[in-house]
Amino acid sequence: MYIYTHKGILSTLFEFLPMELEIFVSLFLFLLSIFILFRRRKHPNRLPPGSLGLPLLGQSLDLLKALKADKVEEWFQEGINKHGPIWKANLFGHPTIVLHGPAANKFIYTCDSNVLANTQPPSISRVLGSRNIIELIGHDHKRVRAALASFLKLEVLKQYVAKVDEEIRYHLQTHWIGQHEVQVQPLIKTLTFNVICSLLFGIERGPKRDKLLPHFHDMIEGVLAVPINLPFTKFSRGISARRNLLPMLIGIVREKREALQEQTQEINPHKDLITSLISIHDDDGSPTMSDDEIIDNIIVVMVAGYDTTSVLLTLLVRLLADNESVYSKIVSEQEEIAMSKAPGEALTWEDLTKMKYSWRVACEMLRINPPIALAFRRARQDIEYKGFIIPKGWQVLLSSSMTHMDQDIFQNPTIFDPNRFDKHAPQPPPFSFVAFGAGPRMCPGIELAKMETLAMMHRLVTQFTWELIKKDESFKRSPMAEFDQGLLVQITPIRKSKASL
Ligand code: HEM
Ligand SMILES: *[C@@H]1O[C@H](CO)[C@@H](O)[C@H](O)[C@H]1NC(C)=O
Repeated sequence: MYIYTHKGILSTLFEFLPMELEIFVSLFLFLLSIFILFRRRKHPNRLPPGSLGLPLLGQSLDLLKALKADKVEEWFQEGINKHGPIWKANLFGHPTIVLHGPAANKFIYTCDSNVLANTQPPSISRVLGSRNIIELIGHDHKRVRAALASFLKLEVLKQYVAKVDEEIRYHLQTHWIGQHEVQVQPLIKTLTFNVICSLLFGIERGPKRDKLLPHFHDMIEGVLAVPINLPFTKFSRGISARRNLLPMLIGIVREKREALQEQTQEINPHKDLITSLISIHDDDGSPTMSDDEIIDNIIVVMVAGYDTTSVLLTLLVRLLADNESVYSKIVSEQEEIAMSKAPGEALTWEDLTKMKYSWRVACEMLRINPPIALAFRRARQDIEYKGFIIPKGWQVLLSSSMTHMDQDIFQNPTIFDPNRFDKHAPQPPPFSFVAFGAGPRMCPGIELAKMETLAMMHRLVTQFTWELIKKDESFKRSPMAEFDQGLLVQITPIRKSKASL
């Protein structure tokens, strides 16, 4: 009815107007009526407090600045002080509802993906591919996630501790031994890249692996870059890196499929992640994942597993140089394990289960410095939450950094205290430690990240001592933490009568 009257006004107007103006005026009236309709329908008084700030930009620059300075929680705290735990803001081009607290985390992490979807900006799917798990919702998400989990679950990964350990020992042999100074962060990125190549892609050391690295590197930079597709921007390099990677990855998938078909008997479907994904079939015998899906998802696994784990390990190297009390406890735990082994013997799953204190230290590091500080979702319909309306199409945002620094959840949150993660210590409420997310989209790579972190800590503290070259070298989040000089350390090998290599 409302629109119909407008049409009446329009047709009388149009008799007096030239063509171009006609289009212009009708467009204007159309937008105006949508605007009026929108305002009426959305109950503006039921939106949470807060301001949408400048059009387009909103508060994006403030949040980016806080990210860069690693002060995300201060940005959130300011919002909470002003508006309470639910407020609205305008971030990265979208009106956004910002939520805080374990109850809000539970709502965001466990909400049906048909209501709150995990949509990334379109620029990200241009680099990562549209069939990657992060983009998928509902049944498709469940199917692809189950396929990834069939390899990433503990029972399967357990068999590969020695393989991860072998990559680590080779890495230290080639890049650390014989050096006086190393840049930790770039080196550890090479290590996590190599572990993913070997374990998940089944690509052993050699020219094939070396050819992949620069392309993955450019692609990951492109995912995190400002999405401007002009020549020489990081984003456009990311897109062309994807173009270059595709034929290589298609070739790898084809080879693995042929290997599976030729050796009809006795090929382990859990040889690597790609072989697992090819081997999975639905009840009717058809492949569970198409080749396109397999490729988009092995790309996403590299992107999700490479920077995150290397940031954690780099922060741990810094911590062990800075905190004598944590360092000496880790060394005694790791030395005890080293003593129980023959020289040159690989680590086993049993060894990792004994590294309880080391893992508590890693968890506390993830609490104080979660590699992924923010989680975004998008409302796919109007949602009523605690008396407020989250309108369809709006973003919803939570911050793991803010949750981890809330003194009502973690006492004295700025103090580094690994004993919070002791299983006899009082436990924080559910959905409070969210470095790996939670619910149906919780990180499926936890066990791999844990294996890599513990095995690397073991090899580092039993083979080297180190000191920071710049006592106060800091990092910026862009949005992943990057140390200003890659974390420069001076290393000294530990000489032992019983070589632990
Ligand atoms: C310390 C290391 C890691 C951290 C802190 C981390 C953190 C996270 C977080 C917070 C999420 C959820 C994001 C959200 O809900 O918005 C996530 C998802 C994911 N992670 Fe990790 N991750 C780590 C290592 C890995 C590794 C090694 C892999 C590779 C196997 C991996 C693969 C994934 C994938 C595929 C998803 C998407 C899951 C889905 O949407 O269902 N991550 N990770
Ligand atoms: C080192 O770690 C201990 C044990 O958690 C903690 O009490 C202490 O405050 C830390 N020291 C520094 C300088 O961070």
